[in-house]
Amino acid sequence: MSCYKDEEFENIVSPILGIEEFNKLKYITHHGITRYDHSMRVAYFSYKASKSLKLDYKEVTEAALLHDFFLDEVNHEGRVDRLRHHPDCAVKNASKYFNLSDKQVDIIKTHMFPVTFSPPKYLESWIVDFMDDIAALYEGCYRMHMEIRTAMFLFMFFVVNFVKMR
Ligand SMILES: [Fe+2]
Ligand SMILES: [Fe+2]
Repeated sequence: MSCYKDEEFENIVSPILGIEEFNKLKYITHHGITRYDHSMRVAYFSYKASKSLKLDYKEVTEAALLHDFFLDEVNHEGRVDRLRHHPDCAVKNASKYFNLSDKQVDIIKTHMFPVTFSPPKYLESWIVDFMDDIAALYEGCYRMHMEIRTAMFLFMFFVVNFVKMR
């Protein structure tokens, strides 16, 4: 059971979470957290949005969970190249385990638009692209918040010790 505590969501994602290769994402840092946690967040946000819009949310949730399914295949590349190429790696890796629909391939391939040049073909792809951005923003802000708290703690620590020394 994940932290999202939604039985239907859990049922949709559990076949993917059972894949050993996918679990390796737990050991890769991504936006200051793990790529596994980031993928789960994007999947959950996409699940909620597509369900409320009465779309095929199972198809969307699966593709959203698989959208960053890459390990070290593109890590040797520069940042921009990595940003552009990892969706293709994710499609390749996901295809080893699942028979992806055309829509799911499009969702994964275009989730970095406009960094990748071809725009999404489906509403579902736009949703995952947007939810990926929202998740990245949230994770970035949370990390920044942590850094601010750490900086404030260190500042206070030095102020208190400076005052004590006098
Ligand atoms: Fe990505
Ligand atoms: Fe992502």
